[in-house]
Amino acid sequence: MKILLLGAGGFIGANLTERLVKDGKHQITALDIDREKLDDTIKSGGITYIDFDIRGSEEQLEKLTRDHDLIVDLVARANPSLYVSNPVDVFKLNFIENLKIADYCVKHKKRIVQFSTCEVYGITAAKANGQSSADFPQPFIEDETPLIMGPVKNHRWIYACAKQLLERVLHAYGIEQGLNYSIIRPFNFIGPRIDYLPSEQTGNPRVFSHFMNALLYGTPIKLVDGGANYRAYTYIDDAVDCIVRIIENPNGSCDRQIFNIGTPENEVTIKQLAERMIEIFNKRFRQPGDPVPEMIDVSSEEFYGVGYEDCDRRIPNVDKARTLLGWKSEHDLDSVLFLTMKYFVDKHRAKHKEPVAA
Ligand code: NAD
Ligand code: UGA
Repeated sequence: MKILLLGAGGFIGANLTERLVKDGKHQITALDIDREKLDDTIKSGGITYIDFDIRGSEEQLEKLTRDHDLIVDLVARANPSLYVSNPVDVFKLNFIENLKIADYCVKHKKRIVQFSTCEVYGITAAKANGQSSADFPQPFIEDETPLIMGPVKNHRWIYACAKQLLERVLHAYGIEQGLNYSIIRPFNFIGPRIDYLPSEQTGNPRVFSHFMNALLYGTPIKLVDGGANYRAYTYIDDAVDCIVRIIENPNGSCDRQIFNIGTPENEVTIKQLAERMIEIFNKRFRQPGDPVPEMIDVSSEEFYGVGYEDCDRRIPNVDKARTLLGWKSEHDLDSVLFLTMKYFVDKHRAKHKEPVAA
């Protein structure tokens, strides 16, 4: 199969591309505006890399779609600080530009694997009813759970809304124009090549990188609104394993299906995440002279600015991936954290010429 991976240079894209190249079953075209995370894969051969901005030439994007059998679309702004600081840009890239790709897939009758997000579920029904979701664990089910967003003034939801609208358009194209799509809702993947560390590059990445930065550079661990909200973490290799099954689509089982990919067993509050990371770092990686970060509470307004509202709890129900694809995540929370931390610690030690972790 000829596969076009859009956004192949990102965290998920780079890990997915590497795995597809290793499998050697398909012909891969990887497209992005940033190739750093793909450099080793490009050097090792086996893919065609195209430096291309999907906001650029529509003719070229259409031609690329026409020339491949399957389109995998990962392009997005996927970082909550941007939903607050640049909401229009988030909408334009994540909906308007991505819609063009869906349109070309309809026109040229190509299957599309579209990356959406677990954020489409929004807040829990418990929170919407004024209850604490700590007392009401409610796994999110792809084709059943209502999608509940906060008010428009909390513009963080523009990301989830743009992704949700794209899902709804794909569904409608499926009904009216026969589009064959599969939608993926990732639940907090982490692993090697996740975001940059903020002491090494300006910006406000996702939480793991902030906490890792604190352990390596001594910046404070900031718990937004006390770190009371929950996330369930999935190791990138487990996630990629499921994505590959969706790409391969055994017996058409993924045709016009939405899949949660996540690990319900790996749920923690953000405060617990910080505590686990400190414990693992101290036990497995700490060397004399490493900084000891303080842990402080900050308000979400101070951390992100006005317009932020958090997803309080998101537990994936993964029955569909298990039933249709025989997939289940293999890594427990400690191994997810250890493996991801090891990647950053080794990189850091190599950069600063210290011995790498055993
Ligand atoms: P990422 O930011 O690492 O990857 C996105 C990639 O898109 C980047 O390499 C970026 O350079 C590229 N890109 C951005 N604008 C582009 C443009 N105009 N033209 C071409 N390429 C462009 O994010 P990720 O974590 O790898 O996420 C991939 C997808 O999965 C996104 O759609 C995201 O919304 C979704 N997702 C990810 C997670 C997760 O756990 N990482 C969770 C939910 C949803
Ligand atoms: C992110 C993004 O929306 C998407 O990449 C994706 O849709 C989703 O993750 C996902 O990975 O599934 P979120 O989990 O909110 O959403 O992003 P993080 O920045 O990792 O934040 C997680 C939690 O940690 C939030 O409660 C946030 O307020 C908190 N946080 C963040 C801190 O307490 N401290 C920090 O330094 C950073």
